[in-house]
Amino acid sequence: MAGLQEPRRVTELSNELTRDIDTADPLGIVRRLCGSDAQLFAGWGGHPGVNDPVILDRLWKLSLKTAALLKENQDQKKNNRIVFSGCGTSGRIAWLCSWTYNRILQKFGHTPCFHYLIAGGDRSLIISNELPEDDPPKGAEDLKKVAEGADHVMFVGITCGLSAPYVAGQIDHSMHQPNMTSVLMGFNPVSLSRNAPIEKWDKTCRQVFLELETLSCTSDSAFIINPIVGPEPITGSSRMKGGSTTAVLLGTVFLTSLQTLLGQPILPSMTLPAREPEETEVVFDHSLSPSLSPMVSLLDCYSQTYQTVYRHSGGVASLLKLAASCICQPSGRLIYLGADTLGALGLVDASEMVPTYGVGLEEFRGFVAGGWEGCGNTEGDLSGYGKTFRVSLSQFESDVLPSLTDQDCVLCLHGSSQRTGPPHLHTIVNKVLASPAKCGLLVMAENGMSCNHLLDKRYETAVLIRLPYYHAFGKECVFAGFALKLVLNAISTGANILKGRVYGNEMINLRLSNDKLFERAIAIIEKWSGANEEDAKFALLRAIYKQDDAANVTLSHPACPLLISEYYLSSLFLSSLSLSSSSNIVQYHPTSQRHPLRTWLFHWLCYWQEVGVQSVIAAERKLLQSAKGLRDVISTEI
Ligand code: F6P
Repeated sequence: MAGLQEPRRVTELSNELTRDIDTADPLGIVRRLCGSDAQLFAGWGGHPGVNDPVILDRLWKLSLKTAALLKENQDQKKNNRIVFSGCGTSGRIAWLCSWTYNRILQKFGHTPCFHYLIAGGDRSLIISNELPEDDPPKGAEDLKKVAEGADHVMFVGITCGLSAPYVAGQIDHSMHQPNMTSVLMGFNPVSLSRNAPIEKWDKTCRQVFLELETLSCTSDSAFIINPIVGPEPITGSSRMKGGSTTAVLLGTVFLTSLQTLLGQPILPSMTLPAREPEETEVVFDHSLSPSLSPMVSLLDCYSQTYQTVYRHSGGVASLLKLAASCICQPSGRLIYLGADTLGALGLVDASEMVPTYGVGLEEFRGFVAGGWEGCGNTEGDLSGYGKTFRVSLSQFESDVLPSLTDQDCVLCLHGSSQRTGPPHLHTIVNKVLASPAKCGLLVMAENGMSCNHLLDKRYETAVLIRLPYYHAFGKECVFAGFALKLVLNAISTGANILKGRVYGNEMINLRLSNDKLFERAIAIIEKWSGANEEDAKFALLRAIYKQDDAANVTLSHPACPLLISEYYLSSLFLSSLSLSSSSNIVQYHPTSQRHPLRTWLFHWLCYWQEVGVQSVIAAERKLLQSAKGLRDVISTEI
């Protein structure tokens, strides 16, 4: 497959800090995530990170440009728009940020001008839908629609892996429009961006992004924001560090420009920058330029929030353990309840579980007080689309509460500034506490705020994280939201690890629902079987099409696997069994009762006998080791 022969993108590499995360206990999992998240601020592999002067310089210029556009809206009644766009989690972070920044504008009497786009439309906010991510013309069309009637559009295309054709289509459109500024955000060097051919398109992501990079050297209408933050803790799972970095960068740039516009400090303790005398040549030396310091302080607030979260690793691990004790049950569920953006972060965390770990739609759910009302989403109430889109607390009460059992874990997400919490959340939580479900409480607490009123002895586990920074512009829980994202990512990832859905630090039951994920599956097979890329791809296609015959498979597979979206990698391990007459699986069946997913991987490796018995034996050893680790965790920790 074109593009796979060259060095892998950083975002698709295995993170050395988490290679054995599948054998760790809950606290060990959280500690490994702490190490991986540290790379967000510290950088990785000698590349520029978020604190590198080169990146800070670009962030600063971008925030100045944004502030100028916002000022034109205010002073000249212009209709300038800022559009964040992305696929999957990148689109969801785009949604949460545009929602928050619009509320800040409104609070200070300004017209909201932030918009978001997500591949597949608003339905993708809740249920992952990866196929539209491969469609550049649709990306361009969505952008044209949102830009209609605007004087100027600042387009921010987010693709953590620099790999999404949907975003490439939009950048390709925006950089040729005189009234658009194009910003590309992602976490790979541009030279490593995805170069695979794209169906129905004559360019690759890399061609488009390199063109933008060239433009960015000479024009102030093109920006590339691509700090390198290291590989994901679960290989390729960009909902984690990629999503967190996106939130930090958008906050750093756009809260700074809002501060410039509004003349209001982002944090009460922050002083506004002294105005540079007009004739001063601005030197982008961050240690010297006073105007830069608020932006850098903001970045430091995020960094301190990260540190504070992981100073509570023990608490996070105990919530993880509680969640895993349910998820490891045959029909266990993890349900988040919350309000406002903190509640919405529960929805976002749950949304990626299906494609990443192959879980059922009901296994991880989020509910938010008020449902879609006031959620700042484009299409409004989505509950008509079906059960999974019914996300209000009333809908939780009618759809889920009556069916709660002791295999379910309900995690109540509170912000301390919510006092007793919104009335409905309070009432529902009382009902949940009286149900057979296991209940956990997670409070993001503001310094100095008493949270005693939230604590209730009926919670099995209650964790309070007191944050040094909580709000921005008085009311928006920007830092609490960032902290919550880190904790929820740890809980849901950890629960899946303990269930046996991760091998090494690799997802092994991902849905093959677009081209990028198909490529990722090939890389996984290559890695664990020792096969070369062509053979791995061929084996995958044989399993998908249930045909051993090489000629038929070659004829029937499309250039891009658009037709295979319903397949999960681990189920293909199973289907490969029926294909291979020579496989004698049963004798290599060490863990089938307890950890079926791991066994599937093992089956797959056995199917690969032709690539060498040695690699099968080596894999078996590794499997047994990790299965033992897992058994120990389950029996001693949960
Ligand atoms: O294709 C699915 C997915 O991998 C999601 O898990 C992820 O959130 C999304 O793509 C976005 O990826 P990127 O930001 O790299 O374009």
